[in-house]
Amino acid sequence: MRKKIVAGNWKMNLDYNEGLSLFSEIINMIKDEVTGKQEAIVCSPFIHLHSLAQLAKGYNKISLGAQNAHQAESGAYTGEISAKMIRSVGVAYVILGHSERRQYFGETNELLAKKTDTALKNELKPIFCIGETLQEREANKHFDVIKSQMAEGVFHLDAAQFGKLVIAYEPVWAIGTGVTASSAQAQEIHAFIRKEIAAKYSQQVADDTTILYGGSCNPTNAPELFAQPDIDGGLIGGASLKSRDFVDILKVFN
Ligand code: 13P
Repeated sequence: MRKKIVAGNWKMNLDYNEGLSLFSEIINMIKDEVTGKQEAIVCSPFIHLHSLAQLAKGYNKISLGAQNAHQAESGAYTGEISAKMIRSVGVAYVILGHSERRQYFGETNELLAKKTDTALKNELKPIFCIGETLQEREANKHFDVIKSQMAEGVFHLDAAQFGKLVIAYEPVWAIGTGVTASSAQAQEIHAFIRKEIAAKYSQQVADDTTILYGGSCNPTNAPELFAQPDIDGGLIGGASLKSRDFVDILKVFN
């Protein structure tokens, strides 16, 4: 059975001390309140990761993720961070292809395919983000966009490699806007993604893939979203910066 996951994406928020205190609060609340098999992932800025990994040691309900990694193994790329460096501080996941990276840093499906390969080679599990813009949805192109993001970004992998991925559907129009996709809209796309995976690999691979929803997800709308058969959890932005909200979203799977 596929894993239920709630991942927090802190984006470029919280200085070092703020990040450490938020993470300590989250760990304590999870210890007291989370009773199911769901996994929490915190994707903090790079600066925090090593210390957060120390705090999380020996605790299996919470893992860490980076928000990006470079496509090259190492070398003359001033200011960049490699997958190997991230892995070396005890981080298990990396977000790849977030719409903010596609939009502000020009990341293409082709580049993301390389980043995915390098992450996997270094034993980092990608949380691979896909999703259409408002314009694309209004032009009724959302299924085509999702299809090509998957085909060009991750469908070059073999089934064993693909099995290490988490997919996150984040409609760009729902990110940070307070407008959530309705549970029916999200379910429709999640089912489509799972169908594409089944066609490319097998029904078994599709059934085993965790597919997260992201975009203005909060403790109020999470129960209905997560009750959909193909929604296996969430990728949470704003609400992951509040320990109470993040843990309440996680507790939907208790
Ligand atoms: P919000 O939850 O703030 O809409 O952000 C979603 C997101 O981009 C998570 O990666």
